[in-house]
Amino acid sequence: MGHFGPDSVPPNLFFITKNSVPLTFRLDFNFNKKTMKKYGKKVLMGLLVLVLGLQFVRPEKNTSGVSTNALSTKYPVPEAVMAILKPACMDCHSNSTRYPWYAEIQPVGIWLADHVNDGKKHLNFSDFTAKRIAVQNHKFEEIIENVKEEEMPLSSYTWIHSDAKLTPDQRTLITTWAQSMMDTIKLHYPADSLVLRRK
Ligand code: HEC
Repeated sequence: MGHFGPDSVPPNLFFITKNSVPLTFRLDFNFNKKTMKKYGKKVLMGLLVLVLGLQFVRPEKNTSGVSTNALSTKYPVPEAVMAILKPACMDCHSNSTRYPWYAEIQPVGIWLADHVNDGKKHLNFSDFTAKRIAVQNHKFEEIIENVKEEEMPLSSYTWIHSDAKLTPDQRTLITTWAQSMMDTIKLHYPADSLVLRRK
């Protein structure tokens, strides 16, 4: 409830003076037992209706599987490397996400879809070669950085998918492979084609 004007001045008041007109607001949140009893049920029912309503939101699934420009159409991806990328990265960085059952429950599914969209925007192994060579080169560089610094795979993911937790050896394998891809690119493309420009 808001009281305006200096004439009613209860003790719990904030004074905000703007253009020398004193505005007063009374904070009227007294969550005592009586109000909890009065509103608690309504709030719970409201939340329940909201959560039930959310179940009708069905984010689009990332399962197109389109892989015309997949990483492996141009770069050698040894089996040992793929055996790491697949369980640890592909759910968020490809056009084929394996969904757990709880993706059907909202807001979990919405949260997962958000991660997948964001992850794909930064790096999509299913659409890797469609980018300019400078970008591909830079993505290998980012892979090295993110895997070395243990920023990828995301910890919220490895927390549930223990098979995505990388050992130091697995990290080295990925970074060594990505480095060799960068070395090969450097051999085959003129240096100025590898300079990242703004779009
Ligand atoms: C749970 C989803 C998820 C998984 C699994 C995952 N990533 Fe990511 N990745 C993201 C998201 C989201 C972003 C973009 C936001 C960010 O950088 O945190 C991202 C960004 C990246 C980037 C770009 C960083 C930048 O600076 O733009 C690289 C490179 C990357 N990930 C590599 C990997 C690799 C390699 C793996 C597997 C070892 C992996 N990611 C696993 C979600 C994921």
